[in-house]
This record gives sequence, C-alpha cells and structure tokens, in this order.
Amino acid sequence: MTIRFKDVNPGQLEQLQGKVMGDVAGSLGLLMAYIGDKLDLYSALLEISPATSQELAETTGMDERYLREWLSANAAAGYVNFDGAMGKFSISPEQAVIFAAEGHPACMQGFFQAVMSVYIDEPKLTEVFRSGKGLPWSDHSPCLFCGTERFFRPMYAMNLLDAWIPSLTGVKEKLEAGARVADIGCGHGSSTIIMAQAFPNSTFHGFDFHEPSVEHARERARAAGVASNTIFEVVKAKAYPGKNYDLVTVFDALHDMGDPVGAAQHIASTLAKDGSLMLVEPFAGDSLEENLHPLGQIYYSFSTMVCVPASKSQEVGLGLGAQAGQKKLTEVLNAGGFSQVRRAAETATNLVLEAKV
Ligand SMILES: C[S@@+](CC[C@H](N)C(=O)[O-])C[C@H]1O[C@@H](n2cnc3c(N)ncnc32)[C@H](O)[C@@H]1O
Repeated sequence: MTIRFKDVNPGQLEQLQGKVMGDVAGSLGLLMAYIGDKLDLYSALLEISPATSQELAETTGMDERYLREWLSANAAAGYVNFDGAMGKFSISPEQAVIFAAEGHPACMQGFFQAVMSVYIDEPKLTEVFRSGKGLPWSDHSPCLFCGTERFFRPMYAMNLLDAWIPSLTGVKEKLEAGARVADIGCGHGSSTIIMAQAFPNSTFHGFDFHEPSVEHARERARAAGVASNTIFEVVKAKAYPGKNYDLVTVFDALHDMGDPVGAAQHIASTLAKDGSLMLVEPFAGDSLEENLHPLGQIYYSFSTMVCVPASKSQEVGLGLGAQAGQKKLTEVLNAGGFSQVRRAAETATNLVLEAKV
C-alpha cells in the first residue's frame, strides 16, 4: 500500500505533527537533563540561583559558552527559568525536586538515565528484531542498572513499608517477630535493604543472576548497616536455595524472566506453610486498549527494548512483557501452583499482588 496524499486530513496531520514535535522536544530535553545530572549543573545552579551563565561557569569551572547554550535549552524547555531583565537563570523548588533532589520520589534523573541506556543500546536492540534472539539483562549499558536503582528505590522507600507490606495478610507481624524472606531478582538490592532496615529481627536473602548487581547490593547493604541480616547470592530464580520462607518478594522482575511459570513453581516450593508471595509489577490493565496512554507508552517501550529481549534470552523465553496485567499474571501464578491470588495494593505505576499456595 502506498501513501495516498489526497486522503490526508490537514487538521489531523497538523495535530499529530504538534504532538510529535513535543515528543522530539522531550527527547532532547531528557538529554539536556541527563548531561546536567552528570555534571551536577542543576545543584550548582540551585546554590547560586539566580545566576548568569558566567557566574555558573565560575562556580563549576566549566565552559561558559556551553553552559549558556545548555541553560537556554533548559529555559526553553521550562526546566529552569530565565529573567530577561536581569539576564539571569534560576531554578524553582519544583524544578529542583525533579532535576536535583536525589532520592526524592519525584526526582526523574534515574528515569532519564534508564532511557539513556536504551538509546546507547539501540544498535543491539534493532538487531534482535531481525534475529528474533533475546538480549540478556547483562548485555545492556550499566546506565540501565543504575537508572533502575535510582528511579525505583525512592518509590519502594515511599510505598513498601507504609502501604505494600501492611496490605499483605499477617506479614508485617511475622517480619517484626523474625521471619525468613527471599527477594528474587533483587538487582541492586534496594527493596531487600529497605526491608532489612525496618525489620532487624528478620533475615533477608537477595537473589539475582546478574553478578555485578549482586556485588553492588552487597556493598549497598554494608553501607546501610544491614550486612548482618542480609545475604546476597548470584543464582537463577528457578534455583535459589533454602526452604520455609515466610515471604518471597519479586519486584519488577517476574516479567523479565524467561520462565516465569517455572520461577513461580520454585517460589511455591520454597514457601513456608501459610507463606506469601508479594509480586510487584508495572501497573497495567488486562487489554492493550486499557494501556494506550503515556504511562503505557513508556512501559511498552521499555518492554520492547529491555524486558521482552531479557526474557527471550533465557530458557522458555515466554516474553510476558511489562504490561501483562493482573489477569495474565494471575494465570502465570496459578500455573506455578498458587491457588489464591489477589490485588493487595496499587499505585499509579505499580500493581501489588499477594499469592498463596
Ligand atoms: C528491572 S530489574 C529489577 C531489579 C530490582 N528488583 C529492583 O526493583 O530494583 C530485573 C532484575 O531481574 C533479574 N532477573 C531477570 N531474570 C532473572 C532470572 N531468571 N533469575 C534471577 N534474576 C533474574 C535481573 O538480573 C534484574 O536485576
């Protein structure tokens, strides 16, 4: 089929052009923000705000001409403000939260870093479309691992202790008294460490098959003062050791696995009687139509470039995708031997399911 230009509706074309121009501006804004993050420019501007590009150059020791252009791009994006009369740039408290407040749930720099990682990996990602092969998690730019940690950790810090764990049946009480917990696909260990800090009577096993992530998690645990009640191990989800876990958690990792049903089966076999699985997955409706919005676009895009290739690189290669939705996740858990699955909690970005054998 060829494009029939006579059928093009000028109004609809203009509307779509406007939308796409906004997307192009956003993609470049993200790159400006990423550079600003790497060079600590937002924090520097915050310190001396309002400031000229010359003043920013003096405090940072960087090139004034580059800074002037970068500040202008940021002002055009609305990421910083510009006062024409004074010729000075400033950063508002809200802008500072988004671009410079490391660890704040609204800070977007970790997210930008994860997006940058897939730009960096684009040649490999284009190739898997042709080959049909997968791309292992370990073959991505390290930007992805750090970006994931930076973006997810504040969300876990905000929700895990106050909302998600209390939403599970009797789990908080068990953790307070002293329980055995396994965190599968723990990555850099953000969730494991937050739980270990809050529940010193319990022991937390973090399992992930990506060795550099596990080493990073161990260092993080030492720095957080929870080395004594955390144990991190390099192992696949279907083969982690131990039995009688009171709680098994999987944070944003089940859909990355090649064989999520096999992983669920193994989890079910390692749970104590009356033990719970807490499954945290990206928020999604059950049908594609329900997910056709900006958050769905973000998740499907990451899923295309990270999650489906990661799954296809492993045995079975199910390719569940990051927008599976509760119905499909429940089918996976049922097939893995969990007879009771319910939605325990949700946020705008996450589904939290509790499953019991
Ligand atoms: C998106 S990251 C999430 C990491 C961490 N749970 C978090 O929320 O920050 C997915 C993690 O799952 C791990 N993973 C994927 N498939 C796995 C498997 N079959 N066995 C163990 N870990 C796996 C990856 O190495 C990666 O660390």
